[in-house]
Amino acid sequence: MSADFRREFGRSSAGTWAAPGRINLIGEHTDYNDGFVLPIALPHQVTVTAARRDDDTLRLASRQADAGTVTIDDLAPGRVTGWAAYPAGVVWAMRQRGHQVGGLDVLIDGDVPPGAGLSSSAALECATAMAAADLYDVDLAGQRLAELARYAENEFVGVPCGVMDQAASVLCTAGHALLLDTRTMAAIQVPFDPAAADLALLVIDTRAPHRLADGAYADRRRACERAAAALGVAALRDVDGDGLDAALTALPDVELRARTRHVVTENARVERFVALLRAGRLAEAGPVLTASHASLRDDYEVTCPELDVAVDAALAAGVLGARMTGGGFGGCVIALLPQERVAGCVTEVRQSFDRSGFAEPATFTATPSDGARRLR
Ligand code: GLA
Repeated sequence: MSADFRREFGRSSAGTWAAPGRINLIGEHTDYNDGFVLPIALPHQVTVTAARRDDDTLRLASRQADAGTVTIDDLAPGRVTGWAAYPAGVVWAMRQRGHQVGGLDVLIDGDVPPGAGLSSSAALECATAMAAADLYDVDLAGQRLAELARYAENEFVGVPCGVMDQAASVLCTAGHALLLDTRTMAAIQVPFDPAAADLALLVIDTRAPHRLADGAYADRRRACERAAAALGVAALRDVDGDGLDAALTALPDVELRARTRHVVTENARVERFVALLRAGRLAEAGPVLTASHASLRDDYEVTCPELDVAVDAALAAGVLGARMTGGGFGGCVIALLPQERVAGCVTEVRQSFDRSGFAEPATFTATPSDGARRLR
């Protein structure tokens, strides 16, 4: 990477930082409702090799993009598009928050598949934020770094996401899932080691394009805000399982009822999943995953044919449980299964995709890995 940096920018770099992609085990579309999420970091990561500059200019290059170096002197929302908006947005956000961050030369590399719902953009934001903070002596780490990266994505890139992806990329640790309360940002590391129970977590990348994703995501957020307002609570997190029936009766329309039912039951499923995990009963947690998928499909309506076919094929292959992970409308499914069933499940899913006329899915098994860090 340092040789590539020299070739790109004609000078030496000051360091390399890495931040991982993630999958969410359970707790989907709960983060912008002040609820609970349970992601793990993937071994796949984005790296940022960087050096300070004497001026305020950003020069950005990516080994995954052909376009050449992007030079940005004028940092304002709406001015930068494509992949460059993520690192540019982070530097903008740091300056907005009053941090003294000057120019940077940045070379980006990595192996988080883009557009697969594995949070390659959050990884890019977090690696850049960590690099800029280190290079300019800004005291920014942990939850505060994750929140700054989310702020950049909301305000500079213009995606109204919650904080899960950035928090996962920064706070996750190897061998653990991250139980995050997105209201308080309290983070608990829960040991998660499927291999110890002869289990595997299979990730099936459907390769389905994220049709409708942006508009529909914002639309779901608005529905949740309307439901919370109608119920007189700050966020749907404030409705618990016992209060669900009363809340559903109080809501004015069928759409808000369905969205609310998903969020409230999904928060309860996170709790149930974590309780099983802590009790050493991971093998019994499959139905909780499958119930989450049904709720996302029927009540939240964020699945798509590829996601549903992948879950159904995995279940037919005898997995313990399966669900879509991430925002939906494409992206990945996760399945929890005995290790000896992985090959059979992959074959079953491939055959189902072929019969449905879908592109061949990509698959890998996920190992809970470390969050963002400096590599050198
Ligand atoms: C996307 C967003 C996250 C979260 C998930 C759904 O990944 O970036 O903030 O809302 O969707 O759980």
